[in-house]
Amino acid sequence: MGHSGAQEPFAGVYILIPFGMPSSFQIYASGTVDMWIADNWKDYELLDCGGGEKLERWGSTVLVRPDPQAIWNTPRNRKEWKHPDGRYFRSKTGGGHWEKRRLADNWQIRYQDLTFKIGAMNFKHTGLFPEQAANWDFARRMIRSAGHPVSVLNLFAYSGGATVACASAGAQVCHVDAAKGMVSWARENAALSGLSDAPVRWIIDDCGKFVEREIRRGRRYDAVIMDPPSYGRGPSGEVWKLEDNLYPFLELVVQVLSDQPLFFIINSYTTGLAPSVLSYLLDTLVTRRWGGHSECGELGLPVTESGLVLPCGSTGRWMCHK
Ligand SMILES: C[S@@+](CC[C@H](N)C(=O)[O-])C[C@H]1O[C@@H](n2cnc3c(N)ncnc32)[C@H](O)[C@@H]1O
Repeated sequence: MGHSGAQEPFAGVYILIPFGMPSSFQIYASGTVDMWIADNWKDYELLDCGGGEKLERWGSTVLVRPDPQAIWNTPRNRKEWKHPDGRYFRSKTGGGHWEKRRLADNWQIRYQDLTFKIGAMNFKHTGLFPEQAANWDFARRMIRSAGHPVSVLNLFAYSGGATVACASAGAQVCHVDAAKGMVSWARENAALSGLSDAPVRWIIDDCGKFVEREIRRGRRYDAVIMDPPSYGRGPSGEVWKLEDNLYPFLELVVQVLSDQPLFFIINSYTTGLAPSVLSYLLDTLVTRRWGGHSECGELGLPVTESGLVLPCGSTGRWMCHK
């Protein structure tokens, strides 16, 4: 591998131009494809999965929830499959319901120094995506090693897992989510984690509208974390479709990056986008302008019963250093 000798637009790995190709043609790839496994949990455990469902322990509570990736029909040897504390059933019409045997309205689990409220919510959710711990660890490492104060913009911030992780590492965080109930939940998680007085701005707003306003106000951030839904409607009924809206949205978001940004995380859970698409977007809009490099991968949760890893979506990470 080498490069054509032309001026490098940005650092990375160049693939030699085949004979006969136009000399301006270059193939660029700045990073690697990885699997990032959230394997530092004690209070959460993915006990087993298969038959379109996963068997999980959240503290001492055992849940069975649907999982579209778990397509294998392996034997259900664990006794917990028979008597979970709660089980979410999908209905054929699109919705679903919880069957609650011994489920509290909500309970708490810990991840290292952080505490989260957990509950049986709509759409099989529990208020936390445990695989995101791999991204929290990355963000905390980047913030702690920055050597200067760091401001983080957390978009589509949900129950605030990334917000409390970044705040606990000493960052200022701007937390944005359109759902008032989720912002309240995130504030509870911050309080449970001893971060009530941490410098967090809690914003209930449409992410697109908020970012446009921040551009007009000249606000800048050293880092961005975003976990946009695959499909949804904004507060005024605007349709959000990841494949159509992500690129123009990112074009906006990069306008709030500081002169020397630290990192940028894009997560995508339910979509068919390959992890390398997220790196491609980051290289196009961030690496090209600020240097650094991107990596992409799947987030994964270790499965106790099989010793294998369940993939839980795609993540792209850009970081300022090579
Ligand atoms: C957890 S993320 C989605 C997780 C995962 N990527 C998925 O597809 O299910 C969804 C969060 O984004 C928020 N959200 C969705 N559309 C939004 C918008 N236009 N502006 C701000 N927040 C939004 C929701 O309220 C929710 O808390």
